[in-house]
Amino acid sequence: MNLILMGLPGAGKGTQAEKIVEKYHVPHISTGDMFRAAIKEGTELGAKAKSYMDAGELVPDEVTVGIVKERLGKDDCKNGFLLDGFPRTVQQAEALEEILASLGKQLDYVLNIDVPREELEERLTGRRVSPTSGKTYHIKYNPPKVEGICDVDGSTLVQRDDDKPETVKKRLDVNIEQQQPLIDFYEKKGYLRNIDGSQEIHKVFEEVDELLKGLH
Ligand code: AP5
Ligand code: ZN
Repeated sequence: MNLILMGLPGAGKGTQAEKIVEKYHVPHISTGDMFRAAIKEGTELGAKAKSYMDAGELVPDEVTVGIVKERLGKDDCKNGFLLDGFPRTVQQAEALEEILASLGKQLDYVLNIDVPREELEERLTGRRVSPTSGKTYHIKYNPPKVEGICDVDGSTLVQRDDDKPETVKKRLDVNIEQQQPLIDFYEKKGYLRNIDGSQEIHKVFEEVDELLKGLH
C-alpha cells in the first residue's frame, strides 16, 4: 500500500501512523521525524532544518523533497510506504509525482485527517513524546499508564520544542495556508479520502482501517 497521511499539525498523523504500521508493517516516513533525528545527530540536514522548525515555518522544498526522494528509493519501500506530513505544498506534491513515476509506483490513497483548528492547539500543547522511541501521548486524551513515563521504553516523556504555545499558533497558520490547494490537487486526481479526525483515537483508526482493508 502506497499512502499519504495528510492533516494539520496535531490532527493525529503520527498517532494513526503508529497504528497503521503495527497492523500493516509498512515503513513510516515522517519528514518531521527525519528532521528531528537529524537535529539530534547534529548533521548538516539538521542544521538546515532547525531554524525553520523552531520558527514554525516550513523547511524549504528543495531540502524536503531531496530527503523524501532518497528515502523512497530504499529497499524497504518496495512493497509500500506511509508518508506522514509530506507533501505539504503543491510544489512538493508535483515533485512527488515525478519521484513516484521514476520509481514506477502509484499512490493508493491520500488520507486527509480532518480536525477543526479549535481542537488542535490543545492537542499540541498537551502532547508528550518519548525521546527514545518517539511514541506519542497526550496528557488528557492519551495518557501513559504511569504519569510522565513511556510504557514502551520507560523513558521520561518530554515536550517537543515546537509545541510551545507561540510556535503552535504560527505552525497552524502556515499549514492552514497550504492546506486547501493540496486538498484540491489530490481531490482532482481521485486519491483523496477524508477521515473525521475529531473522534476518539480508536474510532479514527476504525475509519482508516476500513479503507486500508480494501487494499488487501
Ligand atoms: P511534523 O513533525 O510533521 O509536525 P506537524 O505537521 O506540525 O504535525 P504534528 O506531528 O505536530 O501532528 P500529528 O498530526 O502527527 O499529530 P499527533 O499524532 O502527534 O513537522 C514538524 C516541522 O517539520 C514542521 O513544522 C516543518 O517545519 C517541518 N516539516 C515537516 N515536514 C515538512 C514538509 N513536508 N515540508 C516542509 N517542512 C516540513 O497528535 C497530536 C496530539 O494529539 C498527541 O498528543 C496525540 O496523543 C493527540 N491526539 C491524536 N489523535 C487524537 C484524537 N483523535 N483525539 C484526541 N487527541 C488526539
Ligand atoms: Zn507528527
